[in-house]
Amino acid sequence: MTQQVHIVGARPNFMKAAPVVAAAHELGDDPYLVHTGQHYDEALSDVFFRQLGLPEPDIDLGVGSGSHATQTAALMTALEDTFLDVDPGKVVVYGDVNSTLAATLVAAKLHIPVAHVEAGLRSFDRTMPEEVNRVVTDALATELYVTSPEGVDHLVAEGVDSNGIHLVGNPMIDTLVRFRDRLDAESVRSRLAVGERFGIVTLHRPANVDDRERAGAIVTALAEVARDVSLVFPVHPRGRTILTSVGLLDVPNLVVTDPLGYLDFMSLVASAALVITDSGGIQEETSILGVPCITVRPNTERPITVTLGTNQLVEPTAITAAARDAAAKPRQPADIPLWDGKAGARIARILGGHE
Ligand code: UD1
Repeated sequence: MTQQVHIVGARPNFMKAAPVVAAAHELGDDPYLVHTGQHYDEALSDVFFRQLGLPEPDIDLGVGSGSHATQTAALMTALEDTFLDVDPGKVVVYGDVNSTLAATLVAAKLHIPVAHVEAGLRSFDRTMPEEVNRVVTDALATELYVTSPEGVDHLVAEGVDSNGIHLVGNPMIDTLVRFRDRLDAESVRSRLAVGERFGIVTLHRPANVDDRERAGAIVTALAEVARDVSLVFPVHPRGRTILTSVGLLDVPNLVVTDPLGYLDFMSLVASAALVITDSGGIQEETSILGVPCITVRPNTERPITVTLGTNQLVEPTAITAAARDAAAKPRQPADIPLWDGKAGARIARILGGHE
């Protein structure tokens, strides 16, 4: 039997898994690492392994892209073979991506316990694929590692056994704490030819970048913001075609780049005047860094970033005004309980039965 089998597949998994896997190694638990290959590009995957010091995966399933059904089915088939082969004592899944869902379904049907890191987040918006993945994963997981108190409330309300719920903090913030002193925006700025005062944009949610009209409204707003402050936009592959077709590349004072690695990206975020995004994790990272975050979504599964952090939710038409306000505000790093750089160690101790 392989005691702990950790599953990663897509970009946001890597910074959450890195501290947990490292802490499990320190405890001598010999974690087995599976990369599903949901993300496979150098810029979405390999660079994160290198920079975060994640060990080479024990196996890379190379599943790749596809529609939700095609991708999830391929992930499940490949993961079932792997689990039958390595006989996990426990499967550890991260976040809310399709690899998380697929591994959970396969493990549950093979009667393998599932530990979910970042359990209990809810946007209450089931048009988001991630929300479907979260609800199903938490219904089947037996160990639920939660980043903030409202996650515990959601799980209890859904009838999850409270003995399995562990409020441990945020392992993604462990990664930020670990690298914070090494962030250096200057070299990235000079490579991208961006001045000292700038904002960063990331948009990749289907609701924003698969719909031409909404994507057009967002690009119009970005053009207005870029009159006041230079913008840098590392574009995720899924949004490139539609965003380009609605004129993103023609916006003056807005630099479009390929996706950036962890250190380049966080270096820019840490010294940005503001961030405009629809990412989940960036709402958390900007809160800890005290950088104003404008989230282009009607809801968030991370409300603590709005109540304690720097985040605000806006519609595309409100981006320009929000950006003006945000750029004028002083920096106010949030102090969120248990987001202290030690969540990975807490999780690994419970995972390995060390407490
Ligand atoms: C996935 C996650 C999302 C997360 C995001 C971060 C799900 C349902 N969504 O979305 O929660 O915020 O990752 O990036 O799991 N592609 C490439 N190269 C790659 C991978 C993908 O070009 O290495 C392109 C392909 O055209 C692919 C598309 O991006 O079809 C979407 O990839 P996919 O893994 O389905 O979802 P993401 O949009 O990346």
